[in-house]
Amino acid sequence: MKAVILAAGQGTRLRPVTLTMPKPLVPVANRRLIVYAIEVLKTAGLQDIGIVVNSMESPIVEILGNGDNLDVNLEYIVQTEQNGLAHAIGLAQDFVGDEPFSVFLGDNIFQDKMTELLMSFEASDDEASIVLGEVPDPTRFGIAELKDGKIINVVEKPQDPPSNMAIAGVYLFRKSIFDAIGQIKPSARGELEITDAIDVLIKSGQPVGAYDLKGWWIDAGKPDSIIVANQLVLEELPYTPAPENSDQIEGNCEVSHRVIIGKGSKIIDSVVRGPVIIGDNTIIKNSYIGPYTALGDNVTIENSQIEASIVMKDCEIHNIQGRIDRSLLADNARVSSTHHMPNAHRFVLAENSYVQF
Ligand code: DAU
Repeated sequence: MKAVILAAGQGTRLRPVTLTMPKPLVPVANRRLIVYAIEVLKTAGLQDIGIVVNSMESPIVEILGNGDNLDVNLEYIVQTEQNGLAHAIGLAQDFVGDEPFSVFLGDNIFQDKMTELLMSFEASDDEASIVLGEVPDPTRFGIAELKDGKIINVVEKPQDPPSNMAIAGVYLFRKSIFDAIGQIKPSARGELEITDAIDVLIKSGQPVGAYDLKGWWIDAGKPDSIIVANQLVLEELPYTPAPENSDQIEGNCEVSHRVIIGKGSKIIDSVVRGPVIIGDNTIIKNSYIGPYTALGDNVTIENSQIEASIVMKDCEIHNIQGRIDRSLLADNARVSSTHHMPNAHRFVLAENSYVQF
């Protein structure tokens, strides 16, 4: 069985981070969001994966390449205009051929590995199977209605939700979905909705199965949800003892258990309380790094305190008073305080940036 990951979106809700970095490449616990989906597929033995991107110039193509580094075979399908999930899936028809296939949205992250579901669909009687998760705010999602374990109705972002079981961004299909996609029209928001194509299958009497997610699931579309995803993934870091006598720790330090330190990184006169992940060649000096923080490669943190945050590669944080909390700093961002007069705040912020004191 092949798999398709949809990653052609513009990531508007995550700007300015996504102005230069597509959302599926945003790191969560120092691993790209899309790599979590690839790992779930690989665990279930699905190694032939087509990724829908908005251009062959996308950094996704540049960074993931043919998948050799991840032990999978990656191919790319270009969707130049984001005309909806059904449109994107339709473009993957040549890639998947006549075989059953799975579809993952590239911006969701799950605790559940769904291995059993992915391995058993091909032999099942279902024409499609949809992964569902309970949500408190069903108007933001595709919503399913169930009867006797089968899906009997699906509706995209309903005003008046028939249930709180949301479509969680993982779908299993057979080739019949391509006919169904051919029958639908753009929705009120101008997109070809995959929920409408699933509805065509249901209305024609085909069995559509439901799979209830176990554990947490995050639609990591906004800065807050990326930070939560980072916390949840770091929460699962296995126990590692507090590093002692390490040549990576200098001076008066207190480094707890569950702190992963990359190659060439150094902690000097600082407190680091796990779970924390630190990339390569990162320097932490005279600082406090609190739980649920992920620091990328080549980061420098000096005379500052930070927790529950994502700091991507090549960032610098110097001399910040007070604690930085639940923050997202994209590649090469700099935050510093100087002692020069006048004592003022100075910002160079991209579109949609925000600063909170
Ligand atoms: O997160 C779950 C929800 O995802 C489901 O409950 C909804 O039924 C489903 O429609 C979808 O809703 P979203 O509004 O969150 O979809 P979004 O536009 O954010 O797109 C999801 C992913 O698909 C994202 O990685 C970008 C990619 N995409 C999206 C569109 C519209 C494409 O590759 N091509 C597209 O044309």
